[in-house]
Amino acid sequence: MDLVVVSNRVARAKANEPMTGGLAAALLPVVEKSGAIWVGSSGRVRDNISKDSFAEIESLGAGALALLDLPAAHYGGYYEGFANSALWPALHSRNDLIKVSLDDYQSYREVNAFMARALMRFNKPTAAFWIQDYHFLTLGAEMRDLGVGNPLGFFLHTPWPSRRVISGVPHHRDLVEAMLAYDLIGFQTEDDCENFADYLQAELGLDVDGELVSSRFGTSRIGVFPIGIDVDGFAAQAQRAASHPDVSRLRKSLHGERLAIGVDRVDYSKGLVNRISAFDRLFEIQPSLKRSVSLLQIATPSRGGIEAYSNLQDELSKQVTEVNGRHGEVDWTPIRYLSKGFSQTVLAGFYRAAQVGVVTPLHDGMNLVAKEYVAAQNPIDPGVLVLSKFAGAANELDTALLVNPHDIDGMARGIATALSMPATERRMRWEAMMRKLRAGTIHNWFAGFIDALEATRGAAGPSLSPSVVRPLRLASGPALSGGQMRDPSRFAPRPIAN
Ligand code: G6P
Repeated sequence: MDLVVVSNRVARAKANEPMTGGLAAALLPVVEKSGAIWVGSSGRVRDNISKDSFAEIESLGAGALALLDLPAAHYGGYYEGFANSALWPALHSRNDLIKVSLDDYQSYREVNAFMARALMRFNKPTAAFWIQDYHFLTLGAEMRDLGVGNPLGFFLHTPWPSRRVISGVPHHRDLVEAMLAYDLIGFQTEDDCENFADYLQAELGLDVDGELVSSRFGTSRIGVFPIGIDVDGFAAQAQRAASHPDVSRLRKSLHGERLAIGVDRVDYSKGLVNRISAFDRLFEIQPSLKRSVSLLQIATPSRGGIEAYSNLQDELSKQVTEVNGRHGEVDWTPIRYLSKGFSQTVLAGFYRAAQVGVVTPLHDGMNLVAKEYVAAQNPIDPGVLVLSKFAGAANELDTALLVNPHDIDGMARGIATALSMPATERRMRWEAMMRKLRAGTIHNWFAGFIDALEATRGAAGPSLSPSVVRPLRLASGPALSGGQMRDPSRFAPRPIAN
């Protein structure tokens, strides 16, 4: 089979550059190995582009990366508009932040249709398409309209909320009906999948028979595929990173003080304001912890063109200044707040240097920072993960210290418990989490999804497994080998955490 993976944002294989979003960073190692072609946005927009205008096509491991400039007239309405000011807030149960116009919806549909036309270049009988995330809910339906009969899979990296919440998105019925053009629709957790099935039954009046649902497009399968990480690879990276200059500088700066770490995009779903409040509270209720622990919060700016995000950035800067002003000393800063991104290598080293990992989103599809923090620990002396019960990762990492991110006092107590936990308990909890991580790696996730996708082709179809994915050749244009059209300088990587 010839696998084509599609996502809005893609990542490039540079271990020492700030990493792009959680999705892109997670996919990179598996897509690279699989020989698939990965199609996504180049990060640039243009007027008058034809569907064939792939800006860059370069080799990526055994496969290729094909980047597309998107239509300038629709990009804003698609990305900042419908995707991130209607879908993202609703998917994270923040309908109060929905802010879109009809034009935004039209632009979203236009960009999906544009991507569908562009993908025709890779369409051949043996192709299977795997579309990622909420940017492309309607891409499958557009492809069916163009006559594509091949397997089409879709995976949602975010939560899928309750029926009532998703009904707050303008055009929600059209969107969900269009999603049924996919043969396989994957979610991170059982809850997400159940919410989706409930919507299909209650809003669209469809019969959901176990995992199967029939619509005008035929039968779709819905299922749960929790995303994982490359556990052993990340652990080895963390061990090696101990000697990285940035990591050594961090350790030296601590003077024996303990470190808690948080790594997030500045996003309202991440619970950053509550987290900083919890540290404020911690120093209030346990003043003895002053000078004995600080929080390193890496807060990578994100989607800054959207008001809700720029407001949050301002709010956080103000809050951190206040908390540092209240508890800080001339030679001690309680919250080290960095508004920038770091490479995955450096982050791995930072995680290993921190005695507490604080991952406290209000709502999160999975949250791979939680998994990476665990994988990065020293097995002899592991740190403690303080994890929100509303992160998808809490389903697997149930021996973390689970907290309610809305309960500031409870979080402060959780952090204090983490700091005083004896080594035997830390090891027991950590080992249990590592067993779960090893049972569900990114490799299992990838193979599990594409096996299920290929199964939708029917027993007679060609078999598909990551080890046999063949490097793709373009239907027209250059063969994808040896880095043609490589021009990395034209693509400025945007540093993003999770
Ligand atoms: C989340 C989404 C991804 C997105 C990433 C970064 O992980 O699920 O689809 O790429 O955030 O967001 P951005 O808007 O910068 O791509």
